[in-house]
Amino acid sequence: MICLGNICRSPLAQGILEHKVKSDIRVDSAGTAGYHIGARPDSRSIEVANKYGIDIQDQKARQFSVRDFDQFTHLFVMDQSNYQNVIALARDENDRQKVQLILADDQEVPDPYYGGKSGFENCYQLLNTACNRIAESIKYG
Ligand code: 4NP
Repeated sequence: MICLGNICRSPLAQGILEHKVKSDIRVDSAGTAGYHIGARPDSRSIEVANKYGIDIQDQKARQFSVRDFDQFTHLFVMDQSNYQNVIALARDENDRQKVQLILADDQEVPDPYYGGKSGFENCYQLLNTACNRIAESIKYG
């Protein structure tokens, strides 16, 4: 799960998918930028996750690296800007094929960082729908 800062959207996506797949698959998250390395998720992400029974407070932000192409089979990004940043690090077609927008139909998960609480609820709802789809496709794929 990849966003810009790895404190708002991708920690939420990680928590939601982990909750659905338990320990059957390894889920992780990262940010394309290094601004918040080592930080816990934004308190508003922690709060909305809690509301739905998911604990993300022990996550720590890290920066996406080219090694992630070797560590993971799927790289889900939140928006077009994340997509461009990750694709720019891809070494070959195999790397590029791992990268996809997390929402269906090339929709973006809006960056909630500068907005209010409702932006985080919106993120949760979008990511929950997306993670249902991902969990199903992994189970039956
Ligand atoms: P995220 O949100 O990419 O969903 O973690 C952001 C967090 C921090 C910043 C931007 C977006 N920032 O500019 O510090």
